[in-house]
Amino acid sequence: MNMRIIGWTVAACAAVAVVGCATKPTDAEVSAKATQMLKTSFKARGQAGLDRLDQDETQKLCTEYATAVPPKDVVTKVEKANFAAIKWPADGKYLGDWKKGERVAQEGRGKQFSDDPKGPVGGNCYACHQLAPQEVSYGTIGPSLYQFGKLRGYNDEVRKYAYGKIWNAEAYNACTLMPRFGHSGILSEEQVRDLVALLMDPDSPVNK
Ligand code: HEC
Repeated sequence: MNMRIIGWTVAACAAVAVVGCATKPTDAEVSAKATQMLKTSFKARGQAGLDRLDQDETQKLCTEYATAVPPKDVVTKVEKANFAAIKWPADGKYLGDWKKGERVAQEGRGKQFSDDPKGPVGGNCYACHQLAPQEVSYGTIGPSLYQFGKLRGYNDEVRKYAYGKIWNAEAYNACTLMPRFGHSGILSEEQVRDLVALLMDPDSPVNK
């Protein structure tokens, strides 16, 4: 090999080392870099603070398995911890007013930087679910909840499940796409009860 080729090879290797190809970064390094990039590319605006980028234990675990099915022990861990964190209604009553529940299900405003922090805050349930048949515009990310009470049975076990599911969906299905409405402080206990009534009251249009 003549000196010119040796010189070129040395220069190319140095360039590779600078861009980091010579030593592959670890997953932790990539992850730290991605977090840093996220933090520097978002700006706090109004009620939408940068603390929203901080992941709790559940979110961290679910991010780790975002492109794979989480193993059984992770599923159990996430569901157990979230179930234990559910704040059940003090008086044991799960049912509120379905008419108010329908308004909460329809309402999509509440937590964006441009929303009034004083409210209203909604659950935007129709974005992902069919509920009352009168509403023809709904998303299909979640299953249809039409006739939820009628099909499952009007009993306390199902009322409790509906309350717990809306309060903290991760308690029943680890790494679900459904937001944790009560747990994350999006909806109040009263609003969750009103939604349970929308699903579980025999007079609700959901059960007609
Ligand atoms: C971003 C989409 C999304 C939103 C918004 C959403 N959900 Fe869900 N929901 C889902 C998905 C996906 C499932 C199915 C997977 C699961 O059970 O976690 C589900 C499941 C459910 C179930 C359990 C259904 C069953 O068959 O047992 C109930 C009850 C429910 N959602 C109620 C609600 C209510 C009430 C709201 C509004 C406060 C709501 N959801 C908002 C995505 C969503």
